[in-house]
Amino acid sequence: MVKILKQSSSKCIFIMILFTFLPQSNAANCSYAIDHENHKYTCVLKNAHVLLDNFDLIIEGTHLQGYSDDDVKVISISDSVIHTIQNTIFEKFKNLEEFLIIDGEVQAINSNALESCEKLETFHIQDAELNKIPSRLFENCKKLKELTFNNCGITTLENDVFYGIDKELQKLDFSGNKLKSLSSDIFKGLIRLKELNLASNEIESINESAFNDLIEVEKLMLNSNKIKSSLPSSIFKTLTNLTELDLRKNSISELKVDLFKELKNLKILDLSSNDIKELPEEIFTSLSNLKSIYLDFNNIKRLFINSFGEHNQTLIFTIDNNKLYSIQPGFFNNFASLAYFHATENDCMDDYIFNHDNPIDFSDKKVKDILHDCYYFHDPPKGFGEKYITLLWIGLGVAVCMCAFLYGLHFYFVRSLKREAQIQCIE
Ligand SMILES: *[C@@H]1O[C@H](CO)[C@@H](O)[C@H](O)[C@H]1NC(C)=O
Ligand SMILES: *[C@@H]1O[C@H](CO)[C@@H](O)[C@H](O)[C@H]1NC(C)=O
Ligand SMILES: *[C@@H]1O[C@H](CO)[C@@H](O)[C@H](O)[C@H]1NC(C)=O
Ligand SMILES: *[C@@H]1O[C@H](CO)[C@@H](O)[C@H](O)[C@H]1NC(C)=O
Repeated sequence: MVKILKQSSSKCIFIMILFTFLPQSNAANCSYAIDHENHKYTCVLKNAHVLLDNFDLIIEGTHLQGYSDDDVKVISISDSVIHTIQNTIFEKFKNLEEFLIIDGEVQAINSNALESCEKLETFHIQDAELNKIPSRLFENCKKLKELTFNNCGITTLENDVFYGIDKELQKLDFSGNKLKSLSSDIFKGLIRLKELNLASNEIESINESAFNDLIEVEKLMLNSNKIKSSLPSSIFKTLTNLTELDLRKNSISELKVDLFKELKNLKILDLSSNDIKELPEEIFTSLSNLKSIYLDFNNIKRLFINSFGEHNQTLIFTIDNNKLYSIQPGFFNNFASLAYFHATENDCMDDYIFNHDNPIDFSDKKVKDILHDCYYFHDPPKGFGEKYITLLWIGLGVAVCMCAFLYGLHFYFVRSLKREAQIQCIE
């Protein structure tokens, strides 16, 4: 209703007069408390209503005894409608270290809103309709380490958005926005950044130099974007400290051979829900510290030894929902610590992978949990014929499997896992 009325200036003036006469319509009371977790003196502000952008939020409320505005370290705003964030908050609380707004229906931040933010370490806005962040907004926040704009409708980032704080920032969360591309300059100079979350945007293209300065980054989330075909092969080349890379839910169809070459510290790689058809030679060979690899929901047909190399640290390997029909013999010899291998929903019904001439021998591995739907009875219990079984769980020398056949589902314990031919189900 306010938006419609604002279109006509006379009605707009009417509304302003109305608000002037409504007592304290733009005021809200802080409820002050000392936070149990971080022991910081905190203002919790709820039900603030500042509907017009030229109205200031007026913060009232009674301090705990012995405390004043200068003691407030945290402000946490929720369930409010604050059209524009002004400089009044930081002028009142000069020593704020954390600024949090969750569901504050914020539509804009004034470019001078953070003029007095010298002590600020965390700035967090969630669920707003900002579209853009003013240039050099954080220029004075020399201690800012964590910055979150989650689900704020941001479509572009100016090159100078991190001006003045580039050497301080450690954690950046822009997940759930509408970013479409990443230029070479956006993250320039962020040499202390440890975590970058760009999940759930609309990113289609990333300049090959976009991440060049992020030499200390350990976690990079690019999942649920629109990255098509392939990423530039040099895009991760300086990220030698990266331990976690999430590329899930994109449309990557091709992996450039050198893409992961420098990621010697990578522990978790998630490539699931893409359109990958094959794994090039040596694509994962330099990832000697890899603990988990997720390749589910792609179109991979075959696994070759020379795509992977030696992975004696890898515990988890999942490749469910692909078109897998072949695993090169000896493939698992390089996975000395594998504990968990999933390969359900593949094209293996013809007994290609787990067949009797070329059985996968896990007996010398520490595999505790293996799940695939390609085992079948070689030596079925009497009267069942050859039926497919699925292994549900293996551990402590026992396995539980499920046999599907005409008359329903039956559960069995499996005695030996050494070869499929030796699997015996005992009811
Ligand atoms: C704030 O608290 C005072 C005193 O309890 C009260 O009179 C006032 O109405 C409150 N203001 C708002 C906006 O809730
Ligand atoms: C990436 O950015 C650099 C520097 O701005 C530019 O020279 C280069 O052409 C860009 N690459 C692509 C593929 O657009
Ligand atoms: C990577 O991390 C280690 C500590 O884990 C640190 O000593 C090293 O300087 C970092 N390397 C880079 C390039 O930042
Ligand atoms: C893993 O392999 C590397 C070389 O590829 C070797 O240096 C290391 O000792 C191995 N670790 C274990 C636990 O076998």
